[in-house]
Amino acid sequence: MKKNENSRSSFSGKLGYVLAVAGSAVGLGNIWRFPYLAAKYGGGIFLLTYLILMLTFGYALIVSETALGRMTKRSPVGAFRSFGKSAPFRFGGWINAVIPMLIVPYYSVIGGWVVKYLFEYLRQNTAALAKDGYFDSFIANSSETELWFLLFCLMVIAVLFAGVKQGVERVSKIMMPLLVLLAVFVAAYSVTRPGALEGVAYFLIPNFKNFSWMTVVAAMGQMFYSLSIAMGILYTYGSYIKKDVDIEKSTQQVEIFDTAIAMLAGLMIIPAVFAFSGGDAATLKAGPSLMFITIPKVFASMDFGTGAGILFFLLVLLAALTSAISLAESGVSTFEDQLGWSRAKSTLLMGAVILLFGSASALGFGVLDFVRILGMSVLDFFDFLTNSLMMPVAALSTCFLVTRVAGLDRIIREVEQSSAFRRKKMYCFFMKYLAPICIVVILLSSIASVLGWITL
Ligand code: TRP
Repeated sequence: MKKNENSRSSFSGKLGYVLAVAGSAVGLGNIWRFPYLAAKYGGGIFLLTYLILMLTFGYALIVSETALGRMTKRSPVGAFRSFGKSAPFRFGGWINAVIPMLIVPYYSVIGGWVVKYLFEYLRQNTAALAKDGYFDSFIANSSETELWFLLFCLMVIAVLFAGVKQGVERVSKIMMPLLVLLAVFVAAYSVTRPGALEGVAYFLIPNFKNFSWMTVVAAMGQMFYSLSIAMGILYTYGSYIKKDVDIEKSTQQVEIFDTAIAMLAGLMIIPAVFAFSGGDAATLKAGPSLMFITIPKVFASMDFGTGAGILFFLLVLLAALTSAISLAESGVSTFEDQLGWSRAKSTLLMGAVILLFGSASALGFGVLDFVRILGMSVLDFFDFLTNSLMMPVAALSTCFLVTRVAGLDRIIREVEQSSAFRRKKMYCFFMKYLAPICIVVILLSSIASVLGWITL
């Protein structure tokens, strides 16, 4: 471990910390992933499940990871190791550290799709993008998807090499408010289209008829993904904060902000499915392509649709870039710390991982279309592997560390160094009972679905 306590950089202040965490939390997960899952897995009932999980389980995990990071002043691998050297500790640290390395390749593929759409709006191809089938023929074209993927990677890797992280944070501070404004505008436009109200109702009002077990599995995966938990990121961020940051309050602020953006994205996209595609079931279940088929229809119907399209995809691109950069950055610093490699060498290795797994995901809808892993395309497989299998295990290892090794008392003392711990009792209950039970149940259902025992 090269970085010691004194040389460890820290955030400038409380606001700086919240903004940094919010910046890494808000990304494609909010704008692209949340709406398609909500549309697919039951609308309002998905939203309700998501909110409950976030306020209980998610809350407890964020507090735990941040407190453990601040306590040990280490990223996940080092944080786990500081409690013990045996295999379970090594495993717990590494599973947290490896997840971002597996996410960033396929994240960059979606980033590439965003660059492609931005480019087409810049060329004023607004009407063509809104045509049915446009997206499908685009992703089936392997040389195109690979090209746009490479372009996005290049931006990420260039930033990592240049090490201009500070600049990235500054960009994201300006970009976030703009993104919120534009999202409010597009959502307002979307929900006032004829026929859109049905979609608003579908998204906001829980209907138990739409509930399936997969609603819970998907909501939990999404919660991990969107809040960047169960992958070691918050250990690292926690290790940078000073003792005066109110961990509970900042957790709340990040959760509110992240959820607000996700809900705005839901309101942009789901009502539009009803207004422009009559809410047909196939479109609602479109999955990863939902944003790319629906949003262009909204813009094509607007007066200044091309301008709105350019602005929208530009902001989404920036949000995606900042997230991809922090994901990759976490991989790079793991290599630096654990392998003792130079920054340049670590960046090259991370770049190689992104190119290899990312290309496989990018080509998975074209020339590699025949490749099916457990019945899934490569991109879907990586998404499933990380969100439904590995993150629950990572979360379980954090629960274990908190309840069995460090002890709840120590976490509580850590939080109380800066403020009263208002939801202490709830926190203990969640960590001791709710979280482990949820995780085990989710994990078993994911495995059962892979083995074909149940269809989720
Ligand atoms: N939360 C990000 C999003 O919503 C994605 C993400 C997951 C992430 N883990 C992360 C971003 C770690 C930065 C760091 O898109």
